[in-house]
Amino acid sequence: MPAFDHFALIAPMYARVSYSKVAVMRAVAELPVHGRLLDVGGGTGRVATAIRDLVDDVVIADVSVGMLREAPLSTLQPVCGGSEALPFADESFERVIMVDALHHVIDHAHTAREMFRVLKTGGVLVIEEPDIRTFGVKLIALAEKLLLMRSHFLAPDEIAELFADREKTIRVEDSTAWVIIRK
Ligand SMILES: C[S@@+](CC[C@H](N)C(=O)[O-])C[C@H]1O[C@@H](n2cnc3c(N)ncnc32)[C@H](O)[C@@H]1O
Repeated sequence: MPAFDHFALIAPMYARVSYSKVAVMRAVAELPVHGRLLDVGGGTGRVATAIRDLVDDVVIADVSVGMLREAPLSTLQPVCGGSEALPFADESFERVIMVDALHHVIDHAHTAREMFRVLKTGGVLVIEEPDIRTFGVKLIALAEKLLLMRSHFLAPDEIAELFADREKTIRVEDSTAWVIIRK
């Protein structure tokens, strides 16, 4: 749990914001699929809810109890925990996704290693992030700094470098990037 949980404050509002990039996520994560999907930093389940029907089971892992409390517990399984040490066995999920959360984690490298570890061989890991090379996202980064949110944005190729020897592709549309890694 972070020293101060900014997300617990905005969680009720966040739960009402719908996820607009479902079509791209569906394509890059190769959904639908039979099996389990893990949404790391999944918050209120905003994204997980939008893709819930495309996979058998969905688990959301997040450090913020306040965010998880807003998630629909009848359809999603919430797990409280940090991305740097995911409480799952190796090769547990057919799909692992992380949306708009990588810049919030404490340790990018550990997070990348953990998400890859819990992904099954043959599975797909997708990291969706605001593209820090764009002006609008630079403004968001500045605002988050002023709010002392400890954000640290990586450019798409820097995210890809976290998976140095792995098979990966990058897709960019408008001010959003998807880094897609195969295991
Ligand atoms: C901007 S929100 C995005 C939530 C969700 N992915 C979405 O798009 O609606 C970022 C989320 O990352 C979570 N988070 C931050 N650091 C984390 C960490 N180290 N491990 C897991 N979750 C983390 C926050 O609690 C928050 O719920």
